[in-house]
Amino acid sequence: MNNAIAQTTALLSTCALLLTGCGGGSVTNTPDNTTNNTTTNSAQTTTTPGVIPIGIALAQTSNVALLGQEGFVGARIAEKYFNSKGGINGTPIKLITQDTSGDEAGAINAFQTLINKDKVVGIVGPTLSQQAFSADPIAERAKVPVIGASNTANGIPEIGDYIARVSAPVSIVAPNSLKAALKQNPKIKKVAVFYAQNDAFNKSETEIFQKAVKEQGLELVTVQKFQTTDTDFQAQATNAINLKPDLVIISGLAADGGNLVRQLRELGYKGIIIGGNGLNTPNVLSVCKALCDGVLIAQAYSPEYPGEINKVFRQAYVEQYKKEPAQFTGQSFAAVQVYVEALKELDKKSKISTLPLDKLRTELNKQILAGKYNTPLGEIAFTPVGDVIQKEFYVAQIKMDKDGNTGKFVFIK
Ligand code: ALA
Repeated sequence: MNNAIAQTTALLSTCALLLTGCGGGSVTNTPDNTTNNTTTNSAQTTTTPGVIPIGIALAQTSNVALLGQEGFVGARIAEKYFNSKGGINGTPIKLITQDTSGDEAGAINAFQTLINKDKVVGIVGPTLSQQAFSADPIAERAKVPVIGASNTANGIPEIGDYIARVSAPVSIVAPNSLKAALKQNPKIKKVAVFYAQNDAFNKSETEIFQKAVKEQGLELVTVQKFQTTDTDFQAQATNAINLKPDLVIISGLAADGGNLVRQLRELGYKGIIIGGNGLNTPNVLSVCKALCDGVLIAQAYSPEYPGEINKVFRQAYVEQYKKEPAQFTGQSFAAVQVYVEALKELDKKSKISTLPLDKLRTELNKQILAGKYNTPLGEIAFTPVGDVIQKEFYVAQIKMDKDGNTGKFVFIK
């Protein structure tokens, strides 16, 4: 069987299984070709005609929504902005959102629905690396591009050829906060490290932190473990405080991490606290409130980055939310931007409305990896395996207002 026949047979079987007319299999349908897809070259492969569907699989519910909702917001701002600029050479994108909740099963369901039912060209997500290690292989097998916009564990792009990310890995981001802590207090000697042992990203991040601590010649006095679902950290906090650390480093998610910060302070710890990437959200402020004050967190995005696209993004966000955009919001904007710019490039080479969906996904994946993108994160590109190449990184310190309820991330120069 030659290739063309094999491809046609495969496509027809897929169409039969999905009970949708595939025809030419385009993703940019017009309303009139959705009812009679045997007579046109571009019958319906999406749930919404006339648009290019991009899947957003992030956590809208569960404790992980503290991170996921920020991602949704960034993606929505990108959708509105890029559609106002003409979308993909005249065809708008449409974000199809699926809630992954906070676990692996939720992410797998969201991916399957986006790939098979919503027929997206690619996916942004999921929120956690822990979820990505389960859900990304599904996209890889289906040959659907995935751009992680918050996954920072080592090993994410290596999941497969179709997996990339705009969220810089822990190995690059995390050590910056340790350097900032040492600048604030050069006398730091003893370090206590805490991490959530049931989460892939936190396990990855703590390894990087522990290595950086040793490389700086500091003494790692204890490594305390907890779960992302824990709320009581008295035992671990007391164990660490008894060893008189000058610095505490926490790798957790926002709710557990915020509670741990609060309990460390309540139990009398007065030294510097570094929070990892899972605490990198203003949503942590409502968890540790006044006791969040002073926490240092490394950043892969700054609202003050001077690029034009960041000004547009920042202004749109501030107008709507009356505060500065956070890292996960900037990263998901960038992920949608990568899709838009890669689709536009691809469309110039081979009109995407004529491409069957499977071909479009494959060509889009190649285009994503080949491009350079001027995003709110700065100019980014991808390594051959799909990891982000990014130049600018920052550190912010939480500054709480006098009321103890509101506060902000102050960027340290
Ligand atoms: N950066 C976190 C992760 O990768 C949210 O899971």
